[in-house]
Amino acid sequence: MSISLDLTNGSLRVRNGTLGNGTICPKKMEVKACPSVMSPETKRLLPPNTETVQTKPFPIRGERANYVNSPHVIAMVGLPARGKTYISKKLSRYLNWIGINTRMFNVGEYRRHATSDYRNHDFFRADNAEAMAIRNQCAEEALEDVCNWLENGGGEVAVFDATNSTLERREKIRDVIVNKMGFKLFFVESVCDDPAIIEQNIMEVKISSPDYKNMNKDTALNDFLQRIRHYEEKYQPLDEKVESNKSFMKIYNTGEKVLVHKHEGHVQARIVYYLMNIHITPRTIYLTRHGESEQNLEGRIGGDSNLSPRGEEYARALAKYIEEQKIDGLRIWTSWLKRTIQTVGELRRAPQERWKALNEIDAGVCEEMTYSEIKKQYPDEFAARDLNKFAYRYPRGESYEDLVARLEPVIMELERQGNVLVVSHQAVLRCLLAYFLDKTADELPYLKVPLHTVIKLTPVAYGCRVEHVSLNIEAVDTHRANQRSPGFWKTNLNRL
Ligand code: SIN
Repeated sequence: MSISLDLTNGSLRVRNGTLGNGTICPKKMEVKACPSVMSPETKRLLPPNTETVQTKPFPIRGERANYVNSPHVIAMVGLPARGKTYISKKLSRYLNWIGINTRMFNVGEYRRHATSDYRNHDFFRADNAEAMAIRNQCAEEALEDVCNWLENGGGEVAVFDATNSTLERREKIRDVIVNKMGFKLFFVESVCDDPAIIEQNIMEVKISSPDYKNMNKDTALNDFLQRIRHYEEKYQPLDEKVESNKSFMKIYNTGEKVLVHKHEGHVQARIVYYLMNIHITPRTIYLTRHGESEQNLEGRIGGDSNLSPRGEEYARALAKYIEEQKIDGLRIWTSWLKRTIQTVGELRRAPQERWKALNEIDAGVCEEMTYSEIKKQYPDEFAARDLNKFAYRYPRGESYEDLVARLEPVIMELERQGNVLVVSHQAVLRCLLAYFLDKTADELPYLKVPLHTVIKLTPVAYGCRVEHVSLNIEAVDTHRANQRSPGFWKTNLNRL
């Protein structure tokens, strides 16, 4: 039986959304992943995907909107090609990375599912009653899925990616989300009147949409511009006076100016802060570990040792590689540890900054030990780390989860910057990579970040292109693979 009573927060723990023998939880039970109410110690011992069943459902749904940790809906607003999907995807990725279970619901996908073939912009005419009925139905279905996921599926934040460009539509959303469900609602409007940005958006992402799979580029561009005209006829931007009852932010021309109206609580404050920092100017982020260190050679973790002779060779090769790239306005960030500072010793042309936040994960009592020494001296700790490497915290040290929290300011600054070379450590770079590549907490601690390799990240459309550039200097392999084979949980559940 895999149910246990957690007396500290009055909840039942159920593995993988099932009740013990595999029975799916009845719908009327509130099934919620509750990372915010689990102690880190409990969490570190749980397998991934463990869910918590609230035994005391909220008494009145409307009242739930006043709770600090109520589920949230972030509803996008704006004309087509204003970057709503870009913002939705990026925001979802960020919130998931900081540990808030977030999912995006795109109404355009519901519409494509409901209608067989998109013919042209006539579908979006305000006087096309038949099409309007389909569009309304798709928006309603998507909203229903949002509610189900937040109510029964463990979701914490749902990003409702649609135009929501009329007052009437936003009132409907508010009625369902706030009045009926008692969730929190925050609108994010993207306003853009720069024709160059709009056209760039259409050319980069819209004309490659499934709507235009059988059209040439020029016809698709013209059709999309017509589609925008139809929306413009009915568009009502968010207004502080007309919609004074709503919480919202407006982002003008991809961040030139931001307006925030009545934001509520820390989740919305974090969203506002994050969205104030992102930009769309093209740039590349270069990530690399320090050159091989003396302690790498001995298989010891942590510490603050010097580079090995091969590590020094990498420092020279890195300087040559970076200089050959002729990167505009490059900035270099390292940790406070000797091995990263020595790695950029030959890079004299770009300004350098040291970040304590970029220091390697603190292995606490296991600092400077080899894995076999840890296994021998702390066998329970060694086994616990393999059970849940993301949540496991070294005694008197840190977990990967702690590291993500420590790195949030680094991510925020990286979002603001242009070209940056980050020279740091294996665990730290895994966390940064997980953010850029949208990896789960389960995947994060096993991402491969080999020594003597530069990882280039270039933002493209809705994601990031990643390239691994090996500088061909031998180094030890410090990667320890996931020890959890497919049958792992069957044989190890009795450890919990
Ligand atoms: C679409 O159908 O592509 C967009 C739906 C909307 O207006 O939100």
